[in-house]
Formats: sequence, C-alpha cells, structure tokens
Amino acid sequence: MKGIIYNEKTKVFTLRTRNSMYQMQVRQHDTLVHLYYGADVGDMEIDYRIISLDRGFSGNPYEAGNDRTFSLDVLPQEYSGYGNGDYRINSLEVEHEDGSDAVHLRYKSHEICKGKYSLKGLPAMFGTEEEAETLKITLYDRVSGLQVHLLYGVFPELDVITRAVRMENQGEKQVTIQRAMSMEMDYPNMHMDMVHFYGRHAMERIKERLPLHHGVQSVESKRGTSSHQHNPFVILTDKTTTEKSGDCYGYALVYSGNFRCEIEVDQMNQTRFVMGIHPYHFSYRLNKGDIFETPEVIMAYSDRGFGRLSHIFHDAYRSNLIRSKYVTMPRPVLINNWEATYFEFNDEKLLNIAKEAKEIGLDMFVLDDGWFGKRDSDISGLGDWTVNENKIKEGLPALVKKIKDMGLKFGLWIEPEMVSEDSELYRRHPEWCLRIPQRNMNRSRFQLNLDITRKEVRDYIMEQIFAVMDSCDVDYIKWDMNRSVDNVYSLALPNERQGEVFHRYMLGVYEMMERLITRYPDLLFENCSGGGGRFDAGMLYYSPQIWCSDNTDAIDRLKIQYGTSFGYPISTMGAHVSVCPNHQTGRSVPFETRAVVASAGTFGYELDLEKLTPQEKELAKKQIKEYKKMEHLVQTGDYYRLTSPYSNHDYVVWQFVSKDKRETLVNGVMLRNEANPHIHILRLEGLIPDMHYQDMESGNIYTGAALMKAGVPLPPGSGDYQPVKFRFCAKNDEQ
Ligand code: DGJ
Repeated sequence: MKGIIYNEKTKVFTLRTRNSMYQMQVRQHDTLVHLYYGADVGDMEIDYRIISLDRGFSGNPYEAGNDRTFSLDVLPQEYSGYGNGDYRINSLEVEHEDGSDAVHLRYKSHEICKGKYSLKGLPAMFGTEEEAETLKITLYDRVSGLQVHLLYGVFPELDVITRAVRMENQGEKQVTIQRAMSMEMDYPNMHMDMVHFYGRHAMERIKERLPLHHGVQSVESKRGTSSHQHNPFVILTDKTTTEKSGDCYGYALVYSGNFRCEIEVDQMNQTRFVMGIHPYHFSYRLNKGDIFETPEVIMAYSDRGFGRLSHIFHDAYRSNLIRSKYVTMPRPVLINNWEATYFEFNDEKLLNIAKEAKEIGLDMFVLDDGWFGKRDSDISGLGDWTVNENKIKEGLPALVKKIKDMGLKFGLWIEPEMVSEDSELYRRHPEWCLRIPQRNMNRSRFQLNLDITRKEVRDYIMEQIFAVMDSCDVDYIKWDMNRSVDNVYSLALPNERQGEVFHRYMLGVYEMMERLITRYPDLLFENCSGGGGRFDAGMLYYSPQIWCSDNTDAIDRLKIQYGTSFGYPISTMGAHVSVCPNHQTGRSVPFETRAVVASAGTFGYELDLEKLTPQEKELAKKQIKEYKKMEHLVQTGDYYRLTSPYSNHDYVVWQFVSKDKRETLVNGVMLRNEANPHIHILRLEGLIPDMHYQDMESGNIYTGAALMKAGVPLPPGSGDYQPVKFRFCAKNDEQ
C-alpha cells in the first residue's frame, strides 16, 4: 500500500511512493532510528542492517547501563541533536538559559493525517487529501521541554516525500536555537558521488560530480540569497549512475536565503546528509510556547538515473509547488528592453521597440530597469517607485495605454528590496536599510539592502509599487534583486534577536511576494536576482518563471540551462534571444541558433528590434510561431538531456516528449564544424517503440524503436553553432 504505515508491534514507520520506500523505527531508549530510503523492496522492515558493536571512543547514554554497544555516535538517526555523544554533524543545536547545549531527542508520539502540512509564511508543496498524507513524529528533550515535530509529506503518485521540522518550546525556560536543519538522512555506506551546481554571476548552475570523502563536505550560501555560487539542489548518487540508469537521490531546499547542505562520511564509512538554513549568523530565541518552523526539503529517489529524477522534480513542481495559473498556460512571448537600451531610453524609443514587437508577433513589452526615480544609472533611484519623468515624459499610464492599444501586454521591472543612497527614500529613512552601528556599510552595485524584517518598510515599498501597478494595469512583474545581503543588523531588533535577521529578511520577502500575487491573481510574475541568483524551489512557489541568467550567450546558456534542468522544470527558465556579438561574451552565434536555445525555456527577445535586418525580422516571426507550436511541450512534456555539454564537444542536443508520447521535438546546437565531417547518429528517448512517427520536415516515417535504437543522423552543415531541429509526430495525428 502506498502512503504512510505504522507497525505498532515493531514500531516501524514505512512511507511509500510510486517507486520509493522510506523507513524509520523507534528503538531502545525511544531513539528514532533511520532504517532505509530507496527502491520499494516490498513487505520488509530493513531493521536487520543495524548491527550494534562496542565502538571505542563512542560513548553510551546513561540509560544504556552496561550496554556498550548502544551509541548515538554510530547509529543512523532520523534527527540528531548536539551534546549527546554523537560527534558527527547534527541537525539541531541549541543554547539553554544556563549556557549548556545538550539536546537529547526521544520519540514521544506521532500522528498520521490526510493532506499535506503547511508552514507558516514559508513556501512549501501543497496537496489535497487525495494527493498527499502527512506524518508528524514528535520528539522531545526531557530536560528543557523542547518538542521537535518531524513533518513528512508523502505524495505517492508524484513519487516525492517532503520534510520539515517544527520546534516548540514547551518548557519553562528560554531555548535559543543555533542550528535547525530541515532534514537529516543517514546512509549505511559512502560509495556515492555528490552532484551539485555551483557557479557565479552570469555563469550559474555548473554541474560538478565529486566522490564523497571522509570528513565533512558542503554546499552553501551565506549571501542572504540561495545564490549564483551554489544551488540548494543536491544529488547523491551511486558511482555508476548515468542519465538513464542507476540509483540517485535528489534533495531540494524550498528556501531562497542562506542554506547549508552538509555531508559527512564518518569513521564507520557511513554517510550523513543534512540540509537546511545555514547556521552562520543564525539563532532563534524561543520563549515558553514559541514555535519555529524550518523550511521544507523535497526528496526524491530514482532507480533510473538522473533523467528520471529530473522528471520527478519537474512534475512535482509543476503540479504541487508552483501556484501560478500560468504554470501550464501559454505565456506571452516578450520583448524586454534591458539589453536594447540599458538605462538610456525615452518614451519614443520604447514605443518604437513596442511597434516592432507587435509587427513580428510578440505578445508583451517589458520595461526593465530605469523607469523610476532618478534612475539614470545604477548609482541612484532605488526606493523611489514613481516614474522618471525625464525619460517617460507623458507618464507611465499614458505610455502603457499606447502600448496596450497596439495590442501588446505590458510588464514592469522592480527591485523592491533595495535602496540607493542617492534616493529620496534613503534621505528620509537612512535607518531603513540593514546597517551595523558604527561600521561603514559594504556597498554593492552602489545599493543597500532595505531592512525587510521591518513591517513598515515592507508596507511602504509595496504600497508605492501597488500605486504604480494600479495606475496602469500591469500584466507582468519582473522582481529583481541585485546584491547579496550584507551589513546584517536590524536597528529595529534587540541585540539578542540579531541572529534572526537573515531568516526574518527572507520571511519578509515571501510576505511581500504573497501580497503581490494575492492582490493581482492574474499577474504573470517572474523572479530574478541578477539573473539566476535566487533560482530555487522557494521562489517557484510565488513565480512560475525565473530569469535564468544575465548571460544571454546561447553557447554559455547550453551549460547554464543544462545544469538548471536537473532540478527545475524547463518552463521555469526565462531565456531570451539577444544581439550578437553577445554583450556578455562577445561571441557571435547564428540568429536561428539563439532562438533554438532560448526556446528551451520561457521564450522572449532582449535586443533592439529596430536594429534587426529585414531577414532577421522574418526569421523572428517564424521563430515566434514555432515556439507557440512547441510551447506545450516546454510546459508539460518530459525533457531528456540527450547529450552533456561537458562530455560531448561536437554537439549539445535535448528532447521534449509529450506525456502521451505522440509528439517529440529534438533541439540543439552543433558546436563546431569539421571538414570531411563524421556523421553523428542521435538516439532519441521516451517514445513508444511500435508507434510510427513522421518527421514533420522531411515527411519520412520511422518507428519509435528505430528512432530510439537505430537513431537518426544529424544533418552535416557548414559553419559553427548551427541549430539542430527535428519534430516528429505520431503518423496521422493532426498538426
Ligand atoms: C539584473 C537583471 O538580471 C537584468 O535582466 C536586468 O534587469 C538588470 N538587473 C537591470 O538592472
């Protein structure tokens, strides 16, 4: 049976999804022990793997008496605390009023209920009573009275399990949480690799695969955002796992701020994995009765390689994480003026671009940075969300009306979390930014982080933005965030609460976004943080798409979008056709190839349309039409990474397959051309072997088996970076 089962006799909890099984058990001294996570192995309890031996220098709890084989230092635990003789990385660290830090968690009770738990003010997967079940296991620390509720959301059909932890101080005294991980997972061995996605601004989510080694290894951000540098999505995998085969486990933190994913291989070659809010500059004081909830982690297991793992995450996010109605709806194909004009524009220039956009068949005009305050460069204006009348002389409502009269939708860029020193807001409220008393502030892009922990700051900013949006019927918002969080101190919080600033900042951002989407339920919302600096599952709860990277170079994007696709649906990646030579790399790539790469995402253009040649305009018209034909595959289809940009230096190719497998699209880029070329044969995936598919270009008919096993030759071309484009449909399907 799928779902949650508790065996009263053996005290084993079994959580079952379509292809995975998860087990834990209450054992001696009320210790909650982790037994197993992996393939469904049937009607079995995997407690037989635990063999207790007397381990030197691994201590024993007092109540174990003379039993020197019972030690928390080597037992696989479900959620461990510091200060009890488990010297590995632990999930929970507290400080009690008397300065001690031990926290010994023991099983107290549990509840199973239909539906999915939710977390106050935090993004999380949602689920109806038919879709999900919740298990709440309560652990407690006898001395302090701290209760720790482990929350498990089980989605049998989606094949995922979610975890989060709720702490509740039921004791008389204060408890300060110093570290509260969202989950812990103990594996009985170390024969695994870690796959993670590191990077930098304009080169995010580069895939790296590393063998686990003894000691602690980590992936983390202390920047107040999930960051360009590391992504809160990590895979643990068998050594032999590939795209198509082998075991692997994906862990995604549904949070957009500081995070830490730590992995320790211990003295017994066991592996412990924890994930949650970064303990750096984190503490949370719980007075009697207070509650703290951690962010959620979404976990999935695949026994069919990384491809299947990605499908699980893609489907789960599209159906039960992203709330926007646009998640599977056609999205307007947009023109964004950033790379076309940067800060230099006026109403006339904008209207000219909009006119061209309409002519080539685009749906929406997006006005990026520079429309407000004294925003003529990035040195000033943030915080003053009223129109810059030097540039937009007739005012925003009149400009928007003209754009809408052309038959286009209108979108607007905002950066609500920031303030420029050169702004009216800063002059009036210098205390509204994060700043450490007596210290000089650390600047970045000349801007400061507003103190989003303060309600009056959030209210003021959102009211200004709502006033603009109400004045001109905005269809789309791009919410940007262009610096890491620093000068971490809130003048509004007492000293002992400064450890809460990073987290309260994130809760404040989530609250602002919630207000935005609640007030404008039809709004299309795109997140952005200097491109993909906050590309995480937390943000997807609010917005169905995120600007994937400030790097619009089609060849660099092959790696960026490839890495992003492991954990995130293709429809969440904002991707635009930009000008060549590219502004970030100076590289030139054919116009058609730029469109092929950008159409593996939420498609748009970001260049000066007035400067397109007549041929390019014709091509753009065709590209937009083609995208509209394939968009449903981007939004609801299965995505296959047919090659890796890291191992294949000749071409990079990917494939979309509709859920009914009657339609498939193969796109990609030939990286280089050679004289007297080899013929490259490409094998497709995910089709029905005995179905007949027609190549929509040549009319040739192939069986699914032929396409998958014999493959198709990539057309030899001339010139570097030529596009690859195939579309096959089940024979006789109407096109
Ligand atoms: C960074 C974003 O990623 C860009 O697309 C653009 O909006 C700029 N900020 C504007 O300042």
